[in-house]
Amino acid sequence: MMTANEIRESYKRFFEEHGHLIVPSAPMVIKDDPTLMFTNAGMNQFKDIILGHTEPKCRRMTDSQKCLRVSGKHNDLEEVGHDTYHHTMFEMLGNWSFGDYFKKEAIAFAWEYLTEVVKIDKDKLYVTVFGGDESDQQGPDMEAYDFWKAHIDESRIIYGNKKDNFWEMGETGPCGPCSEIHIDLRDAQRRAQISGRELVNKDDPEVIEIWNLVFIQYNRLANGSLVELPEKHVDTGMGFERLCRALQGKTSNYDTDVFQPLIQELAKMSGIAYGKDKKCDIAMRVIADHCRAVSFAISDGQLPSNNGAGYVIRRVLRRAIRYGFTFLHFEAPFVYKLLPILVEQMQHNFPEIKTQQELVGKVIYEEETAFLRTLAQGIRRFEAYIEQNQGVHTIDGGFAFELFDTYGFPIDLTREIAGAAGHSVDMDAFDAAMEAQRERARATANRDAWGKANNVWVALSDGLPATEFDGYDHDELTGCEVVAIVRDGESVREAKTGDQVEIVLDRTPFYGEMGGQVGDTGIVGPARVTNTLHHEGGLVGHVAEVTDGAVSVGDRVTAVVD
Ligand code: SER
Repeated sequence: MMTANEIRESYKRFFEEHGHLIVPSAPMVIKDDPTLMFTNAGMNQFKDIILGHTEPKCRRMTDSQKCLRVSGKHNDLEEVGHDTYHHTMFEMLGNWSFGDYFKKEAIAFAWEYLTEVVKIDKDKLYVTVFGGDESDQQGPDMEAYDFWKAHIDESRIIYGNKKDNFWEMGETGPCGPCSEIHIDLRDAQRRAQISGRELVNKDDPEVIEIWNLVFIQYNRLANGSLVELPEKHVDTGMGFERLCRALQGKTSNYDTDVFQPLIQELAKMSGIAYGKDKKCDIAMRVIADHCRAVSFAISDGQLPSNNGAGYVIRRVLRRAIRYGFTFLHFEAPFVYKLLPILVEQMQHNFPEIKTQQELVGKVIYEEETAFLRTLAQGIRRFEAYIEQNQGVHTIDGGFAFELFDTYGFPIDLTREIAGAAGHSVDMDAFDAAMEAQRERARATANRDAWGKANNVWVALSDGLPATEFDGYDHDELTGCEVVAIVRDGESVREAKTGDQVEIVLDRTPFYGEMGGQVGDTGIVGPARVTNTLHHEGGLVGHVAEVTDGAVSVGDRVTAVVD
């Protein structure tokens, strides 16, 4: 049986033999494209070539691209872990023709690789071609149909709609009709009962798409119209983890050697075997998947944070932590412990994961520590509530909302914990509290710790750069400069003992309140910090009472998180 690493190599070699230049994966994090946060397809790095803005180094290329689908047009997050074949981060094996070969050769290459190189049984394969779309004034892709006919029986060629057979990178950008290859991985008996043809694109977990051949010939403009590109291109993408599953004869991507080493480590760490309990299995799959996504994002320079791409990564990591905490009973950081296994598996094709290993491990560990602390506080709050409300079997929705709002407990987690203790949650009241908070948020947008309209922050952000967050390596920073002090909604130069203020530093180790997570508390110079808030322009305010002496703008102070 071929290992995952051998399968990846065989793909790249096959296309190299057919004149393709092997190129490295582009970073998964995209910094210079306002339409995309993360690489969601192998072709992203070639967008400028496809649009005719740059010349390619070679007209044929191939690679294995690390992709992330957790936001935007292609978003698989909620499925991940619950089914057997969706992932946040996955590898896309691709071959490209930039103005070189088109449909005929792309189809012939794909067929030869699948049926002759890795020897997939032809009887398990089906293909789809674009059936046309009136709104775009496009007819069916008869060319692709006819090229397929040379390889596969017509009963295995299926017309598909625009959703499945017209590929678009995003709302705008390169696009064109596509032809997908689907594989039927059911056992012979079930295949004899119902034809795989009936199950293509029907969400059957065993009849799945493995390869998408896109024939790019248009650019979709912001007004929705299609413009012909100067040249025609081929962009193919094959799900590497799905191919591994097919070639290794497994019923789940998670049973391949891509995921099993991570899952087995989780089983060892938790003392719970994989495959014994549905919920624990889902948790292990979620963690194995998310650990990859987060590690690769950080190694590409995207740290978890409170906004934009950083917030997406923080959410993914917190989802993993919550699953581990709830179902595998991990109370101390655990995700970072998987990193050495991941590095071992992936460093051959993605050397950056090895060179960044130390940073990635540290960042994940810090995030886990902070979030587990919040979760633990929430659990204690929950236990106190149960203690105080003996005999009550329905948890007050307002209280469930407090857990969500203050401790970052998603309602599912609260219901889970409540259920385990024999309680239910008043969901109507929870929904009402959530709606009321949305109303409040709308009404008080742009207010500060004193509830005053925050024009002061707008004004401050004009002259000050965003506060730099520097809390990954330390809970304590010395020599931070006080760049602003806000008291009663006004910017002041100095604050004295007893004053309630917000202190802004040039850099801080404090995490700010966001997305239900409470802000950090601690000490800043002579002041006691009770919360940390985000403001206009990335400024961070340390809500504090000066307890001992005075603090002035320009002072250098020490900041220590509790
Ligand atoms: N761009 C296509 C996809 O993502 C093929 O690579 O499916």
